[in-house]
Amino acid sequence: MTVPAALGASQIRDAFRRLFPDASNDPVLAFAPGRVNLIGDHIDYCGGSVLPMPIQYGTWVAAAPGGGAGVHARSNRQPPLTLRPGDTAAGQPVGHWGRFVSGAIGVLSGDGVRVPEGLLLYAAGDIPASGLSSSASFSVALLLAIGAVSGQRAEGLALALAAQRIEHEYVGVACGLMDQAAVVLGHAGAALRFDCASRLAEPVALPAGLSIVVADSGVPRTLAGSAYNERRRELDRVAQALALDPATLAVTLPARPSLADRTLARRARHVASEQRRVNDACTALGRGDLKGFGALLNASHASLRDDYEVSCTELDALAETFRSQPGCYGARMTGAGFGGAVVAAMAPDQVDAGSSAAASAHRQRFGTTPRIFVARSHGGARVHG
Ligand code: GLA
Repeated sequence: MTVPAALGASQIRDAFRRLFPDASNDPVLAFAPGRVNLIGDHIDYCGGSVLPMPIQYGTWVAAAPGGGAGVHARSNRQPPLTLRPGDTAAGQPVGHWGRFVSGAIGVLSGDGVRVPEGLLLYAAGDIPASGLSSSASFSVALLLAIGAVSGQRAEGLALALAAQRIEHEYVGVACGLMDQAAVVLGHAGAALRFDCASRLAEPVALPAGLSIVVADSGVPRTLAGSAYNERRRELDRVAQALALDPATLAVTLPARPSLADRTLARRARHVASEQRRVNDACTALGRGDLKGFGALLNASHASLRDDYEVSCTELDALAETFRSQPGCYGARMTGAGFGGAVVAAMAPDQVDAGSSAAASAHRQRFGTTPRIFVARSHGGARVHG
């Protein structure tokens, strides 16, 4: 199993100095982790409780005030970007990653923060798989670094909500708050149970004898272009048909709602059953019941595949291959779906053999080798220094 090395602060500072040799200030550095969702998908935008875990990989942003007006941004994964002052309004044609940068500046300015007109930015991500919330990680790191350069230090829920506004207003994805909450509020050594209705967060310790393995299916997913927003609209229709509030549907849906539309009935069944599984998974983890936890992961995958219809052939196959390995308690797709990654709960001493076997089975069937790594829980996003 190849485990990519995570980037460190000194690498980011050196890259910034190389790219902007004339910068007169040392950059402020911020790091925001990615996250793997252990269980509870597609219920955050309807008031459910979810169980994500921030991971050791994420996004660094280095920021310093620049000379003249305009933002000069560089990245280890994206082409160079220059924004002029008017470009920070929503809807400007600034390209995909430009929308995050202009969104962070626009959201901070909208909150009354005086962002310097000239900014130098370097962003570097090291998240080795898709579906691990690189967007929330990038948004939060940008807000922290640009905020610090501007004399503002946002934190906690306010920071998570500001990052969500970047997605809603600038990127065009009507996402819930799970990813931003995980990235901001996470604790090292634990997963985070986040109640999206009350917005209360509580750490959930992972029992000894459990490794969280992540495998990238290799299928790219573009959340905005996918059926994500459509699923949200379907839930609005469910709420309307049952005269319920869409913002709290996950906790108010009856177990067997009477819905004439069969598609809507399946969507509702996923939401209600996934919420129960999150509750049961927290209980199972508390008791150290790894078999029970794994069975809930498997059931979650089946529900996302059959009732919510957000999986794909490669994710189904990868989850199934993991399940057939000795020492695997359970496996499921994680995150929004339509491609992305699988999360598997495994016995630590079986991770290497099981992952190699799963990787070669996947390669034989699909011709691509999935990237696989053990996710370690990381603390929430922060400014360095
Ligand atoms: C994406 C969204 C989240 C959540 C998940 C699915 O990651 O950003 O808000 O809805 O999909 O659980």
